[in-house]
Amino acid sequence: MTISRRIFVQRFGGASVATLGGLTLAGRGAEAATGLLARGLPVEQSGAPGAASLIRLDSNENPLGPPPAVLDAIKASFVDAGRYPARAGNAIGEDLAALHGTSPENIVVACGSGEILRMSVDAFTSPTKGLVAGLPTFESCVGRAKQLGRPLTEVPVLEGGLGLDLASMAANAKDAGLIFLCNPNNPTGVVHGAAEVSDFIARVERASPDTIILVDEAYHEYVMDPSYATAVPTALQDPQVIVSRTFSKVYGMAGVRLGYAIGHPDTIKKLAPWRMPNSVSILAHHAGRAALAARAMVPTERTRNREALNFTGKVFEDLGYKVVPSQANFVFVDLRRDARAFQAACRERGVAVGRQFPPLVTYTRVSIGTLEEMRRAAEVFRQVLSAAPSAAAR
Ligand SMILES: Cc1ncc(COP(=O)(O)O)c(C=O)c1O
Repeated sequence: MTISRRIFVQRFGGASVATLGGLTLAGRGAEAATGLLARGLPVEQSGAPGAASLIRLDSNENPLGPPPAVLDAIKASFVDAGRYPARAGNAIGEDLAALHGTSPENIVVACGSGEILRMSVDAFTSPTKGLVAGLPTFESCVGRAKQLGRPLTEVPVLEGGLGLDLASMAANAKDAGLIFLCNPNNPTGVVHGAAEVSDFIARVERASPDTIILVDEAYHEYVMDPSYATAVPTALQDPQVIVSRTFSKVYGMAGVRLGYAIGHPDTIKKLAPWRMPNSVSILAHHAGRAALAARAMVPTERTRNREALNFTGKVFEDLGYKVVPSQANFVFVDLRRDARAFQAACRERGVAVGRQFPPLVTYTRVSIGTLEEMRRAAEVFRQVLSAAPSAAAR
């Protein structure tokens, strides 16, 4: 039995679905299956040598893919695939509103939270009102600001602990249209507690009553730190704050593409027109509704992730490397050598890890796969790290 088939059985057991059009989806989920199909390979070959057997720890995906109910919903929505998504109405917006105890006017759904990030830059920055973000942080906002030639201030993370430098970010708020607060931050995994975040929001608002604060909570469901709290209740009341969320992580739907922003109706009204029309497909719409209905799986997935995350952190610590405490589904490790050389050496041995994140060029980001994948990856990490780094990589 290949790893992917084993995960498949663990995940789906005797569940009814997990087949699409007669095809069995492997544990890595739709993304793996799509890649295999594109190459004309049957999904069952996912354990074969070569690209299909690569352990993918480079994009913070959920290694189990979507829950069976989501696959069921996607399959059931095939009959509507010829129709524009508007025909489905805004049922997903209504479901999300019910989840957050608010109304659909507080929400805009999009093609992944990546679209929300891009829309936020489009909506709230201008040639004179730029973007403030951490460095490193998730790159969508910064990338869009650069594309549009917006003023950009990137504030390096703090040397001790790699937390976002919230004081300095707030101090730079004055002429900004948008401040991007990624919590927990990608790629560091550092989370900022509720008190820190509300203090940050208060400081920004004092300095700059027009600046929008976008709190990216892509990894919200994975956080276990008790000092953390979502900024959603603040966003619902405060027109200067919006929160973005995604179905790509805990719900394993990265290939389906669904995310949303939640905030005050006035702010959502300014943001929504920047969405590409019909950017949420009818399949994503129904998949998202099914994921919300199946959200009892979230604590199980959080625990599964944490177990594999703790295992992975310990592997690096036992090898003598510092691991940044993570509240997400990845770890950030200081290898004290060029992370690109580590990435290339792991890739040669069948494990894909994250790219380099300047200016922290000696750190690598390793996404958390299944425990079994992490055990196999650990062997590769040990091999690669036991070899002395070449002069160029030091
Ligand atoms: C912090 C953060 N925000 C947003 C995204 C975008 O996710 P998606 O567009 O799949 O919702 C990611 C993806 O990795 C992320 O790490």
